[in-house]
Amino acid sequence: MCFGSAIPPVAKDKAVIVSPSRPETDALKSMGWTCTTYPDGTAAMALITLPREKARAKSWIAQASQAVGAGVIVVDGAKTDGVDTLLGAVKARTQSILGHVPKAHGRCFWFCGGKFDDWLPKMRDIGGFSTYPGVFSADGPDSGSRALLAHLPDLSGRVADLGAGWGFLSRQILKHESVSELHLVEADNDALACAQHNVCDARARFHWADATTWAPQTKMHTVIMNPPFHEGRKGKPELGQAFIQTAARILMPKGKLYMVANRHLPYEATLQTTFSKITSINTSGGFKILVADTPRLRR
Ligand SMILES: C[S@@+](CC[C@H](N)C(=O)[O-])C[C@H]1O[C@@H](n2cnc3c(N)ncnc32)[C@H](O)[C@@H]1O
Repeated sequence: MCFGSAIPPVAKDKAVIVSPSRPETDALKSMGWTCTTYPDGTAAMALITLPREKARAKSWIAQASQAVGAGVIVVDGAKTDGVDTLLGAVKARTQSILGHVPKAHGRCFWFCGGKFDDWLPKMRDIGGFSTYPGVFSADGPDSGSRALLAHLPDLSGRVADLGAGWGFLSRQILKHESVSELHLVEADNDALACAQHNVCDARARFHWADATTWAPQTKMHTVIMNPPFHEGRKGKPELGQAFIQTAARILMPKGKLYMVANRHLPYEATLQTTFSKITSINTSGGFKILVADTPRLRR
């Protein structure tokens, strides 16, 4: 069993890859690997590629420990992702650290045994919403999303929330009674599970999907988004740019996009090539609200 996106050093029919990420899962499945979002069943050993979020890293160790019983768990991670601290925390729970080696700016360690059940992922209440450890902004609403909310007009018809996370924006969008459908599109299965818990409304449709390729059956009147702009620690503005392309593709001819971004992010050029009219409002906290009108038809 392998947690994260690393390809295990065994034959394809002998491994299951556990990942909450839809883009990762799609890529691995297209290469012939078996993938799941949560381990079911047992395994002889587990390999964990450390995620950046510490709480998620711990929850993967707990899930791996349940799956392998007395088998070996190998953890491979970067120092900047806290691999040394994690090694210390694991050491405190097992007598059996079997080995560890430094590797470039990281470390690989392997162990067996120990009790980790209290590290299993648990939803926790953050004041009216519930989140799993490791999802985006797990401790409370993001300040960019709050800024966007303050600039939303009355909404109606079909709306999509691209990168919906645990549902903060979506719940507010559904306060608009004229919204007939809200499509929550989210790549992180753990975040989507939280959204399903947080957004209880018959108009909500949940999609575990890659927003850069997602296509609804019917086009939208409005797209709302606070798009991601990094992957792990790496800045990746092209992800937000791809979200803008999706918004233009899924909107009706007179549809509108409302998005928030950190002011330095380079989204205007993409907006100009995909929409006819763009307005930008700077807000406090270093954000900008971008409103784009009338997607340009693609020839
Ligand atoms: C900046 S967060 C905003 C979350 C939420 N809308 C909020 O306001 O709290 C961006 C979200 O996009 C999700 N995401 C990242 N890449 C994605 C992709 N390719 N497709 C769909 N969602 C993605 C992340 O998991 C994250 O939840």
